[in-house]
Amino acid sequence: MIDYKKMIGLANTCMQNSYSPYSHFKVGACVLTKSGKYFVGTNIENASFGATICAERSAISSAISQGEKDFACIAIVSSSGEYTPPCGICRQVLSEFGDLEIVLAKDENNFKVYTLKNLLPNNFDAGDIK
Ligand code: THU
Repeated sequence: MIDYKKMIGLANTCMQNSYSPYSHFKVGACVLTKSGKYFVGTNIENASFGATICAERSAISSAISQGEKDFACIAIVSSSGEYTPPCGICRQVLSEFGDLEIVLAKDENNFKVYTLKNLLPNNFDAGDIK
């Protein structure tokens, strides 16, 4: 049983560290591994806008860097207080690691649960490289 509230709380805490001087839009993410470990990430903007890293990829990078790649779920929050869907690049990056659950949250009591396949059907993956 996934503790969505805990994930949302961790994402929200991490979001406070957002480096977003250009958009002033803070995003936080928390990824849960199948083995029960949590990794968080926030968005890191750059004066060269294209160098910006989204919160989701920040969290995935942290987990991978610590040897984890079997993910069960990722929770995403933002400073808008609205449901914030992952961008296309992040969906593609998440798809590399299977069909995890994606939780979009306004707060710990208001969230929606999707799957990666819901949000990115017919994705390009390793099997398409021939
Ligand atoms: N952002 C994320 O962190 N995740 C997304 O999936 C969408 C966008 C960030 C990137 C940038 O810092 C800000 O939101 C505005 O695009």
